[in-house]
Amino acid sequence: MTQRLTIRRPDDWHLHLRDGAMLAGVLPETARDFARAIIMPNLVPPVVTAQDAADYRARILAALPEDMAFTPLMTLYLTEETDPKDVAAAHASGLVSAVKLYPAGATTNSASGVQDFDKVRGVLETMAGIGCPLCVHGEVTDPEVDIFDREAVFIDRVLDPIRRAVPGLRVVMEHLTTADGVDYVRAHETGLGATITTHHLIITRNHILVGGIKPHYYCLPVAKRARHRDALVAAATSGDARFFLGTDSAPHSDPTKESACGCAGIFSATNTLSCLAEVFEREGALDRLEAFASLNGPAFYRLAPNAETITLVKGAPVAFPDKIATGVGPVTLFDPGFPLHWRVER
Ligand code: NCD
Ligand code: ZN
Repeated sequence: MTQRLTIRRPDDWHLHLRDGAMLAGVLPETARDFARAIIMPNLVPPVVTAQDAADYRARILAALPEDMAFTPLMTLYLTEETDPKDVAAAHASGLVSAVKLYPAGATTNSASGVQDFDKVRGVLETMAGIGCPLCVHGEVTDPEVDIFDREAVFIDRVLDPIRRAVPGLRVVMEHLTTADGVDYVRAHETGLGATITTHHLIITRNHILVGGIKPHYYCLPVAKRARHRDALVAAATSGDARFFLGTDSAPHSDPTKESACGCAGIFSATNTLSCLAEVFEREGALDRLEAFASLNGPAFYRLAPNAETITLVKGAPVAFPDKIATGVGPVTLFDPGFPLHWRVER
């Protein structure tokens, strides 16, 4: 049995770092294991212009502990007012790696998102021309659509029409949660990738709802039934280059989660690699963990994989903290519900 696994240093292709004291508290949890991450722009107010992204990037680097190396890959939050020229310049300079589409009201801090997709057509055409990826939060917000169906309906109503209307647009379907999403990605050879989170490879909706409501398993898109989780595991462990890791680690302080109207978001930065090793080992796919966590993402984003490596070591169950202390209160760490035997060698 493999007891050690050395892989290229991983990257996280979908991460929430927040700002201020929360940023300072959570950034080391990612930077310890990951070389780079795509930084989500859903601050309040959101990161909408190149100047906003430059300022936010500077705040992230200022919060980084001196002994850690980490490169934030910035994104812009697409609004109906986004200026195609601003996007083009920010992408050309290397400041911005992608633009993020949130349907208005789809998730945490998405009030400034897009309502009328015709209004962003010009930006999307510019992005297609320069090869700037569009990261998509793939859920419709129509109140008539059941929350468990919102991803599947988004594919038909929004994503497929956008991809047809703007040929050549490179799209990342973020935090895939359904077999429908996996099938859609598999059916489209070019220009389409998908991130899969750590927690969606592990939990189902039962984790949220059975035996009492568990706010720390609540995120968006919400976890679905086991059939969908299993399709995600099959995709992630297949080695297929279109699927790559985006943890969607999304910290909220405990009081905002443990509430009558709790925030959506699961914080998994600290133990993601241990969780993934466990999932991949169970599938007999440890040899494909590197593709998912370290190779497929850079290939999609047209970047070189990291030169450094990390080594995962298997042994007695690893003790992770239940919570990470931050200046805005404790943040509960994702509990996979099984012991974690793999740790990153330091
Ligand atoms: C994210 C957050 O908290 O910012 N929450 C989540 O449940 N994933 C927003 C998002 O990515 O949808
Ligand atoms: Zn997210």
